Amino acid sequence: MKEIIILASGNGSNFESICKYFSKSKSIRVKQLITDNKDAFVIQRAKRLNIDYKIIDYKHFKNKSEYNLALFDHLKSIDFDLMVLAGYMRILPNYIVNHYKGKIVNIHPSLLPNYKGLNAIAKAYENKERYTGITIHYVDEGVDTGQIIFQKKVRIRKKDTLETLEKKIHKIEHKYYPKVIEKILSEK
Ligand code: GRF
Repeated sequence: MKEIIILASGNGSNFESICKYFSKSKSIRVKQLITDNKDAFVIQRAKRLNIDYKIIDYKHFKNKSEYNLALFDHLKSIDFDLMVLAGYMRILPNYIVNHYKGKIVNIHPSLLPNYKGLNAIAKAYENKERYTGITIHYVDEGVDTGQIIFQKKVRIRKKDTLETLEKKIHKIEHKYYPKVIEKILSEK
């Protein structure tokens, strides 16, 4: 059985789609949710889906370094095959990225290298792009710079509002992230 852990900070719709996709799998299971935000809605989803969760509350720590050390201690205490970032709003420090090189993936709502960082959907929309999309990539020391594994384009139509575009993007995130995770693990 291959085991994945998911790091998320907020809503958790990707977390939920991944859990549901693997809920009947005999080869892959979601071992644990890790969140840095004790108020995140993703915790309610984990409870409902019966997935183990660990809260490492960022606000509880003196600073970023102490939080990251606590996260690293926790990561070292569990075994997993893949760390999946799904709306995890913090930057992993280099020492964690290097320790788990090739074992961390992220999803980003743009066609990287375009629109790295925050508010990627809104930026593409405001720039009147004809296309945007999603990128699933390995995590390296940079922000949204790691090796690209998968991309899917989404057309921005004239009648799209930011809200309809966001909906379309999230829908394809939910459709493809679990499948790409499955493929990565089948090759490991
Ligand atoms: C997604 O759009 C993902 O691409 C980005 O953060 C968002 C998380 O949404 N990294 P959710 O928490 O999975 O609903």
